[in-house]
Amino acid sequence: MNLLKSIQENGYVLIKDVGLDDPDKALETAISTFAHPISYLGLPLVMDLKPKPGFQPASYAGTGVFDLHTDLSWFEKPPKYIAMFCVMPESAGGGIPLLADGWQAIDALDAADVAYLQAHSITFPPPDHIDYPPLTAPIITKRDEGPFIRFRYDLLDNPPQPVQNFFAAVNDHLIHVDVSPGSIFIFDNDRMLHGRTELKGGLTSDRHFKRLYGEVI
Ligand SMILES: [Fe+2]
Repeated sequence: MNLLKSIQENGYVLIKDVGLDDPDKALETAISTFAHPISYLGLPLVMDLKPKPGFQPASYAGTGVFDLHTDLSWFEKPPKYIAMFCVMPESAGGGIPLLADGWQAIDALDAADVAYLQAHSITFPPPDHIDYPPLTAPIITKRDEGPFIRFRYDLLDNPPQPVQNFFAAVNDHLIHVDVSPGSIFIFDNDRMLHGRTELKGGLTSDRHFKRLYGEVI
């Protein structure tokens, strides 16, 4: 399977039954076929995503619904690729990973809304577990290879109507990622938005994913 080609065509790729022997290595191997593994802000290269006490509900270690977003919206140069390894989906049935194609959502908007999202800057704060200044930038930046999207709805105060319309449009394009133990999915963080449904087991949930970022070679 040509991973990069699939991601360029569909925004994401799902690889099933990689095996559970060494999830970190499987993630690094998959990303390394077309990108450089990269960590940010001194965090581990492969991050364990499972519930931990003290995190806001919409965060990698939180247990609440996590609205569709791009990662590191508050960072000047967010990671281009995100690879996720499913060690264990939540046995109670929550925490389902979601994707949405931001490009399809843009196509569904009125031209006036798209123009607004390109012209008006939004201030994106970091989540409370990150000590970093907020970043002010437009949600949509035009590029030759297709729009670059930055988006994190749940941390915005009183988002203007075009931003609300974009949030509604991405939620009209939801993809439930069909993961099982040993699945990897990789997506373009410039184009796709991702999130999850609420964890039903709270802090004792058995949901366990791993994440690795990749940057363009
Ligand atoms: Fe995320």
